[in-house]
Amino acid sequence: MTHSQAPSETSIIERQAKEIEILKRRLLEAQKLTALGELVSTTTHEFNNVLMSVINYARMGLRHTDDQTRNNCFEKIAAAGERAAKITTGVLALAKNRGDRMEPTDIAKIVDDSIVLLERELRKYRIAIDFQRGEVPQALANGNQVQQVLLNLMINARQAMPQGGQLILKLSFDPQSNMVDLLVRDHGCGIPADQLPHIFDAFFTTKSGPDETGKGGTGIGLAACRDIVEAHKGKIRVQSTVGVGTAFTIRIPAATANQAAPAPVSRGVPIAGNEMLPASPVRQ
Ligand SMILES: Nc1ncnc2c1ncn2[C@@H]1O[C@H](COP(=O)(O)OP(=O)(O)O)[C@@H](O)[C@H]1O
Ligand SMILES: [Mg+2]
Repeated sequence: MTHSQAPSETSIIERQAKEIEILKRRLLEAQKLTALGELVSTTTHEFNNVLMSVINYARMGLRHTDDQTRNNCFEKIAAAGERAAKITTGVLALAKNRGDRMEPTDIAKIVDDSIVLLERELRKYRIAIDFQRGEVPQALANGNQVQQVLLNLMINARQAMPQGGQLILKLSFDPQSNMVDLLVRDHGCGIPADQLPHIFDAFFTTKSGPDETGKGGTGIGLAACRDIVEAHKGKIRVQSTVGVGTAFTIRIPAATANQAAPAPVSRGVPIAGNEMLPASPVRQ
């Protein structure tokens, strides 16, 4: 009877492997849909706010006949229109590259577009953004996916600072490794050491559910960030101290090959404080 058991064990293993493959694909779809859903809800919300400004100032202009009030209203309407155009341009740029294609990408522009999308939400939660824009070369990236990573990290940072605070975004270039580095640092609650090794696991969450803006609570965000960064042959790392804050760094290869002589591979990202924790085994 032992002969008949061997093939069936193999077939069970094969079937399980197939099931795992299918579940992995489903998780990827869920990640994409969650990100798209959050992007749509953020954009619609922002766009609606802009429309409210346009409608209210138009009504005010109609009610007041004096030139000064009307000029003031027109200026507000023009500013709101420009903001609406910025929001749609950002979203349209993303829609252009919905596939997996990698191309030379201006990461600073992605940061700018992400700030436009989230600035009102961040202001509402009394969070100030400090974007430290270093001179960096283009990265070999999929802009849509990098924006997905950045929005996830910025929303997590916002949710970690319920009392408000400062969110630092810092863009820099490391010529030694030929990598573009983007740091997202908050001054929020921090992550306890025992949770830190699990935060990139799919479905790991400490939130009770989506917040009032419909974001978070799925535990999918950081798992998607890690998958995306790894598909870019990049690295994502976290450093966190409870009560002080959290810093995530993503590193993405520059689009053009390094001109400098090959240098020793650097293992960490220079952030003051605790040791850096790789999200997954560091690949050299
Ligand atoms: N900036 C941060 N500050 C504190 N905790 C964080 C931060 N980012 C992520 N976390 C922790 O990691 C968990 C997983 O994050 P994520 O995968 O984005 O899922 P979700 O936001 O849906 O909970 C969060 O529930 C939270 O406990
Ligand atoms: Mg999240």
